[in-house]
Amino acid sequence: MNENQVLKFVDINKNFKTEGVVFTALHKINLEINKGEFIGISGKSGSGKTTLLNVAGLIDTPTSGDLFLKGRNTRLLDDETLSKVRATEIGFIFQTFNLLPLLSALENVEYPLMLLNISPEECKHRAMEALKSVGVDQFSHHRPSQLSGGQRQRVAIARAVVKNPTILLADEPTANLDTKTSKEIFDILLHLQENMKVTVMLCSHDPDLIALTKRQIKISDGQIISQ
Ligand SMILES: Nc1ncnc2c1ncn2[C@@H]1O[C@H](COP(=O)(O)OP(=O)(O)OP(=O)(O)O)[C@@H](O)[C@H]1O
Ligand SMILES: [Mg+2]
Repeated sequence: MNENQVLKFVDINKNFKTEGVVFTALHKINLEINKGEFIGISGKSGSGKTTLLNVAGLIDTPTSGDLFLKGRNTRLLDDETLSKVRATEIGFIFQTFNLLPLLSALENVEYPLMLLNISPEECKHRAMEALKSVGVDQFSHHRPSQLSGGQRQRVAIARAVVKNPTILLADEPTANLDTKTSKEIFDILLHLQENMKVTVMLCSHDPDLIALTKRQIKISDGQIISQ
């Protein structure tokens, strides 16, 4: 196996069944992704971008086909192992930030570490460092409602990278932000990819952002049509 390989999709299909009707959201996806790649995923609404990220992030199980994460076939992992792999290897960033509203920025970033049995002091230290790395440490005690959209997304990025994940999955992370802030968020992701060697998969409807990514994948009706 290629030692740098992080993810490998082999003939992945994902079907959804709604009221007896089967819909194929991903069709025969074959894809290899290496450590430290920055991938931009584009495609029309409903083409399967989010489904692809959810499969990559072990949130959704493929209907058929195999997904290998660092050479391990994820189909063979039990639920407990899958949760653990998800908690340590995968960071997610969403369009709507998905921060916990009653927690401060710092507490939001500490949260994924607490699930990993890391001491409270260490959690706090690492969370502050993560906030610093995305330039919002001065807002550590603010709640999400006391932050701008761009600041919230920075906190969400800190939360996603604080555990030093292998893969960062960003599902339209700039869709709720203005152009200037979008570019800033994109530059943060680029910086993280270059410095932490994290593998980034980013979906976006913004062709200008996709054009800045190093490898581009286009999907249509659940199929990769160019890469
Ligand atoms: N849980 C589900 N149950 C049934 N159908 C689903 C489910 N999740 C997604 N789908 C269908 O799968 C297709 C792909 O959805 P997906 O969310 O991946 O698209 P997308 O490319 O992310 O679109 P958008 O750009 O609007 O976010 C859509 O037709 C959607 O209706
Ligand atoms: Mg989507």
